[in-house]
Amino acid sequence: MASTRDWFETVAEAQVRAKRRLPRSVYLALVAGSEKGLTSSDNVQAFDELGFRPHVADLPGKRELGTTVMGQDVALPVLISPTGVQAVHPDGEVAVARGAAAEGTAMGLSSYASKPVEEVIAANPKTFFQLYWSGDRDTLLGRAERAKAAGAQGLIVTLDWTFSSRRDWGAPPIPEKVDVKAALQFAPEVLRKPRWLATFLRSGSIPDLTVPNLPLGGAPAPTFFGAYYEWMTTPPPRWEDIAWLREQWNGPFMLKGICRPDDARRAVDAGVSALSVSTHGGNNLDGTPGAIRSLPGVVDAVGDQIEVLLDGGIRRGSDVVKAMALGAKAVMIGRAYLWGLAAGGERGVANVLNVLRQGIDSTLLGLGRASVHDLTRDDVIVPPGFTRDWS
Ligand SMILES: Cc1cc2nc3c(=O)[nH]c(=O)nc-3n(C[C@H](O)[C@H](O)[C@H](O)COP(=O)(O)O)c2cc1C
Repeated sequence: MASTRDWFETVAEAQVRAKRRLPRSVYLALVAGSEKGLTSSDNVQAFDELGFRPHVADLPGKRELGTTVMGQDVALPVLISPTGVQAVHPDGEVAVARGAAAEGTAMGLSSYASKPVEEVIAANPKTFFQLYWSGDRDTLLGRAERAKAAGAQGLIVTLDWTFSSRRDWGAPPIPEKVDVKAALQFAPEVLRKPRWLATFLRSGSIPDLTVPNLPLGGAPAPTFFGAYYEWMTTPPPRWEDIAWLREQWNGPFMLKGICRPDDARRAVDAGVSALSVSTHGGNNLDGTPGAIRSLPGVVDAVGDQIEVLLDGGIRRGSDVVKAMALGAKAVMIGRAYLWGLAAGGERGVANVLNVLRQGIDSTLLGLGRASVHDLTRDDVIVPPGFTRDWS
């Protein structure tokens, strides 16, 4: 269906609308990759190197897209990856949760999100809570337990975020708090985006850049920078710390950010039930190959023991099919739904998922596969040198 005012037919069109609607700094914070942006570009471009091997007759009249991830049935193999972004839309992660629920899929909620986990789970009970390794063991456990008490169905621990936030093109400024000084600093770019401003004004709120999922026992929410400081000053975890948290959680547990088969094996030893091959959307070490290049090695190492997902660079349904043909159980998306959120709130998020669903369906048809579960490596042409040898 061609794009209309209320509907976009591709993720690329959602991005165009997001760029048009968002203040420059907010838009740049979404597309940002670290340093030169090598990894964030490769995340997307690597998919272009993979070809298909279509059939033309005996094609299935109906295709099955549903699967199960971390114990949750999902109507399509695309989940919401956690993102800590504060200023895209006043309904923030609640709108994302509603859009995901409308399309029958699960939501990863960032611990740096702008909406409390309790509100998000009310909008989508299929929610996993994401933690960074930040604070001492009691603090980490307290946050996980708060999410569990709210009904979180699984825990995602993100390990692949270091301090490589330098950007060659100039990182967008983020104010420490929203006060008169910040209002004056950002006024010129905000006034150029009246529809974004009007959406926030209509909701009666402005982005306050606090993170409500970190405080425990009714303490006030810290600012994003307060949270960032806590994380930067926390000693990085050892594998035994991961094993400890995994044991405490006692439910579906994902490690996000694995690229290497040896790390994947250690994650299995630590008892995780899922992992996502991920480069943090190109926001970690620049020069790491695009996530899809690392997927086959990780699948070969641990794919028969735990659920292996992929996130990074998914922009169309055919990308999802390529990842599943290379062994992913499902994928997670980041920027794609953030653009949908910017373009149309919860409806925009559902629109993005719907576009991906249609793309998966038509790719399955072309490949002659009746179900996402039937995909194999034989469905894609992998050029020599595509994957990276991590061994
Ligand atoms: C603006 C932005 C904020 C993000 N915040 C988080 C976060 O708080 N926690 C997390 O685990 N990953 C975070 N990520 C990484 C995403 O979960 C995901 O790995 C990445 O966006 C996937 O790549 P894609 O954007 O190409 O789909 C963030 C990514 C972006 C673009």
